[in-house]
Amino acid sequence: MSDSRRPMRHILITGATGAIGGALAVDWAAAGVTLHLHGRNRPALEALAGQCRARGAATVLHSPSLTDHDELRRWITALDEEVTLDIAVAAAGVNTHSQHENGEQWNQVKELMELNFGAPIALTNCLAERMKQRGRGQIVLMSSLAGYFGLPVTPAYSASKAGIKAYGEAMRGWLAPHGVKLNVVMPGYVSSKMCHEMPGPKPMLWTPARASRRIRRGLERNQARISFPFPLNFGCWWLAVLPAAISQWIVGLAGYNGDHS
Ligand SMILES: NC(=O)c1ccc[n+]([C@@H]2O[C@H](COP(=O)([O-])OP(=O)(O)OC[C@H]3O[C@@H](n4cnc5c(N)ncnc54)[C@H](OP(=O)(O)O)[C@@H]3O)[C@@H](O)[C@H]2O)c1
Repeated sequence: MSDSRRPMRHILITGATGAIGGALAVDWAAAGVTLHLHGRNRPALEALAGQCRARGAATVLHSPSLTDHDELRRWITALDEEVTLDIAVAAAGVNTHSQHENGEQWNQVKELMELNFGAPIALTNCLAERMKQRGRGQIVLMSSLAGYFGLPVTPAYSASKAGIKAYGEAMRGWLAPHGVKLNVVMPGYVSSKMCHEMPGPKPMLWTPARASRRIRRGLERNQARISFPFPLNFGCWWLAVLPAAISQWIVGLAGYNGDHS
């Protein structure tokens, strides 16, 4: 089929103004693709959209709240009604740290759970049923290697990513018989604002472009779990398998205890 007759692909990315979401957007940008880019930082969003248009993609910018889940669901429903989304990537996320004596700040924990855990679930809950009815579509949820075993430097973040991993695995099984794909992405360290603000060592740091290529390859193969880089993913996987006391000891030894005394 010629390019002019091929139907437009619609791809939604939340967290498009971030390192990983932005790299994915640029990677996907091509003629025949409309990128729906979500972010609150409008100048950053517009700069990214310019880059994507230069590569031939059409772009639409979105900024509704992701932490007001009713607003999020209204937006996703209206958007999918209008364009029929092919791929939706829930990449927006924040981190908190327990560096201080009092641990994590409650208002930050609350926002984190609403964004990292609540928003991807609200999005999936709304979109999965619609994709199921049409028998196609792909949802991409962003977990983390921190989802395998809780890191003392970042408890709420670890919990949100473990929760998204479990939710994604469950939803993948529910959606698969209906022709809908769901993939859980578990990155290690990828250079970004969030990554650099996190305390503790950052072995095997990848560039966002490299992470994006790995994620896209995994999505094309419909891998259930897209985790990288090897061997960090293998080591973190072991943390979930070993007795918790041993894993806790290893995590402390590796410098993730958040003990800054
Ligand atoms: N980088 C890593 O090492 C790493 C490792 C494992 C997993 N991950 C996960 O990968 C995803 C992307 O991370 P990243 O490294 O690309 O992060 P990043 O560069 O710090 O970007 C964070 C993104 O989240 C959005 N965001 C933050 N707070 C928001 C809010 N309240 N409402 C709506 N959007 C909000 C930001 O957009 P605006 O501020 O414009 O709204 C931005 O696009 C996250 O889910 C992260 O947990 C990252």
